[in-house]
Amino acid sequence: MTRSLPAPPDKAAVVQAMFDRIAPRYDLLNRLLTFRLDQRWRRLALRLTAVGPADVVVDIGCGTGDMSALAAATGARVIGVDFAARMLAGARARGVSAALVRADGTAVPLRTGSATVVTSAFVLRNVVSIPGLLEESARLLAPGGRLALLEVDAPRWALARWGHALYFNRVVPAIGGLLSDRTAYRYLPDSAAYLPDERRLLAMIAAAGFTGIAKHRLGGGAAQLLIARR
Ligand SMILES: C[S@@+](CC[C@H](N)C(=O)[O-])C[C@H]1O[C@@H](n2cnc3c(N)ncnc32)[C@H](O)[C@@H]1O
Repeated sequence: MTRSLPAPPDKAAVVQAMFDRIAPRYDLLNRLLTFRLDQRWRRLALRLTAVGPADVVVDIGCGTGDMSALAAATGARVIGVDFAARMLAGARARGVSAALVRADGTAVPLRTGSATVVTSAFVLRNVVSIPGLLEESARLLAPGGRLALLEVDAPRWALARWGHALYFNRVVPAIGGLLSDRTAYRYLPDSAAYLPDERRLLAMIAAAGFTGIAKHRLGGGAAQLLIARR
């Protein structure tokens, strides 16, 4: 396993402490490092799941509230869930119109079937168990509910893959280390190694009880949006 990656027994505590450390500059670096594409991808996730005023959205790993705020702007009722207190404090400080709950995304203190939409942006690679997060999403969703997962990805074509690897593995840690936390911005690209390949990830989503699974490649393959129905 890559050197900056914690092994499963320590992963949750290490990831939580890391996001607490980088919370103050998280939004700035997100915008900078994705050339503001991150917000476009979140809006697309909400559009493709047709989020609107009739919805109850649970945003797992809501962080500083980017997705929660965009979902709330559609008129939906939003509950943002995250285990890092300082990320949630960032969301509160921004005045995000969502109920913010400090909890693990694999054990959310909400009733079964209480959501119509579950969103989770850039969280999969951070959890100890991806199937655990998917099963919890399925539990939270009422039948027919929609799931939208955003995550990093790697382009399929060799040249794009090379350019992407250079940016993700060299430029991101350098800029992140300069403006925020060196260890954290080394972990962020390395943590892509926790992601299963496309076939296995789609199979995990199906195994958790989802159908109509669709994968959208974003940013030339730098990110992926997975949409499914409960
Ligand atoms: C890369 S950030 C993404 C934040 C936000 N979704 C966004 O799009 O900007 C990952 C977030 O997931 C949270 N997280 C990671 N593992 C978690 C878990 N097991 N339970 C709850 N939150 C978790 C982290 O604290 C962090 O805020």
